Amino acid sequence: MCGIVGYIGPKEVVPLIVEGLRRLEYRGYDSAGIAVAGSAQNPSLLEVRRAPGKLGNLEKVLLERPLHGTYGIGHTRWATHGRPTEENAHPHRDSSGSLVVVHNGIVENYLLLKQQLMARGHRFASETDTEIIAHLIEDELEIARHNAADTNGTDATTTAANTAEAIVVSPPSSIPLEEAVRRAVKRLSGAFAIGVLSAREPDKLVAARSGPPAVIGIGEGEYFLASDVPGILHHTRDIVFLNDGEVAVLTRSGVLFTDFEGAPHQRTPQRITWDPIQAEKAGYKHFMLKEINEQPRAVRDTTLGRVSLDSGRVYLPDLHISQSFLQQAATMTIAACGTSWHAGLAGKFMIERLARLPVDVDYASEYRYRDPIPGALGLLITQSGETADTIAAQLEMISKGTPTLAICNVVGSAITRKAQGVITTNAGPEIGVASTKAFTAQLAALFTLALYLGQERGFVTETQSRHYVDELARIPQKLEDTLRSVDDQCAHLAKEFSTARDFLFLGRGIHYPIALEGALKLKEISYIHAEGYPAGEMKHGPNALIDETLPVACIATKDPADPASVLKYEKTLSNIQEVTARSGRVIAIATEGDTEIQQLVEHTIHIPAAPELLLPMLEVVPLQLLAYHIAVKRGCDVDQPRNLAKSVTVE
Ligand code: AGP
Repeated sequence: MCGIVGYIGPKEVVPLIVEGLRRLEYRGYDSAGIAVAGSAQNPSLLEVRRAPGKLGNLEKVLLERPLHGTYGIGHTRWATHGRPTEENAHPHRDSSGSLVVVHNGIVENYLLLKQQLMARGHRFASETDTEIIAHLIEDELEIARHNAADTNGTDATTTAANTAEAIVVSPPSSIPLEEAVRRAVKRLSGAFAIGVLSAREPDKLVAARSGPPAVIGIGEGEYFLASDVPGILHHTRDIVFLNDGEVAVLTRSGVLFTDFEGAPHQRTPQRITWDPIQAEKAGYKHFMLKEINEQPRAVRDTTLGRVSLDSGRVYLPDLHISQSFLQQAATMTIAACGTSWHAGLAGKFMIERLARLPVDVDYASEYRYRDPIPGALGLLITQSGETADTIAAQLEMISKGTPTLAICNVVGSAITRKAQGVITTNAGPEIGVASTKAFTAQLAALFTLALYLGQERGFVTETQSRHYVDELARIPQKLEDTLRSVDDQCAHLAKEFSTARDFLFLGRGIHYPIALEGALKLKEISYIHAEGYPAGEMKHGPNALIDETLPVACIATKDPADPASVLKYEKTLSNIQEVTARSGRVIAIATEGDTEIQQLVEHTIHIPAAPELLLPMLEVVPLQLLAYHIAVKRGCDVDQPRNLAKSVTVE
């Protein structure tokens, strides 16, 4: 996720903004930039400096070509649209160069807006969605100037008609910057938190929010904008969290808040008592817990701009694979590691069900030892994009003539650079070693890919597509509901099971990979031995493990509208009874409204209903939270578990 810091006040702005951006580095980024105005020599001059890579590169540029001023905005960019280059770094300018924008989020309709603006003569210098926001605001200012001139013209005519006196035509009055911003953001769809400066309106900084966070700092005669509290906490603890649909106008005399229609909002600052480290975790105790709670946004931002709720169509412009190739492809090979491998196993069910395309899924660390015959299409799934084993598998596929796709959370990473096509999981940087939001974002990306393949290969009708897209769009809210409803129960269960020596996780069908993921979460952060198993396999050996000391987490969810799902559920109930008959202690993950299962097991955790292929995104949440709370209870280092690294760049 990008970092934004803005300031207006009496101090030199450059060091203040650079320091603030440095405190937001934990959010991850791959380029940086700053725009400064209000220098003593030329108050209306607006200057920009940008650099790829880390803040140190921007500081070098600033040493060579210093900037001075008393208000400005800075940005660290986490690339989503367009590579991490200087041209794509923020701030972005409008055509006149006198207005700049920094942005966090994703503009879903930026291609359409870009075409409209180009038809009105605008030209663009970057590949980003952000640049169109600067031009959109400029366009609104132009429209207002034009209308004002028309009105004046009409007034002048009226004046001439009514009175013969000399006609005094007031200069065309354009709308204030904040009104142009309000009109522009109403044309955007997607998610955005923006900061805007214009040399034409000195001593003013405008912010707007719809989605990603934005905070306003109220200091003594100085005012701040940031994408997160740590960026400005060392200057002021009086913070206003901008609401969705709000605009803030920062000037030297204070801050005004309105909605997108211009109606004033009265906002009272909150006193933030967090220390800086707590602030980086947004008040959560651990990055992992923060990231578990960021999953609704991660899933929303991964599907934004890729699906149309009206037509049900899926758009994956960065795939670069022809429809004819997809129609003729006989098989797909997925290779990944760890949690990403679990995502691949779930993706197999999605792709085979929706696209009727056979899928093999391999551990990337094992793949090359088979001297494999790769499928027609390779798919690498990876959060970091730098996992050595997954890179090796990709090279193995490429060496045998197989084109590869990547589902990845880091734009510009090694695996994305070697892939023919990329589907980014826009989960933002994942700091905790144990992958959570990247995993659910991978599942969302896989479902989107499966639907796309089903459409391209002619196996999904328009009606089915609209239904699936509608259900996918409901998942972020269902994730919010799940997070709210199960956390206390998981914390309570952690007290009961934190001393367990072993744990078993069971699931059938698409739920088996989620059982594997639940086991991995528990073992990697609490150090309790845990394994995931296909529920139907219990009678072929693992039943020997069952006794009163063994907790068994069993995924027994169902989609009542799907007969195959209900049949699977019935068989899973039988497995549960085999466990309870031997005094095993069952924690069931069930679908809301299922009261039958509660009669059979010791503990039931309910999650919202959803179609079978979308349930994994929901049912993994209680398993993540159970693992988290058990690890905390055991005093483990949740964010940095022993012996593990966030990105395994060695084989
Ligand atoms: C998951 O919680 C672990 N951190 C680990 O299994 C991870 O998923 C694996 O190393 C793959 O990493 P990648 O997704 O970055 O390729």
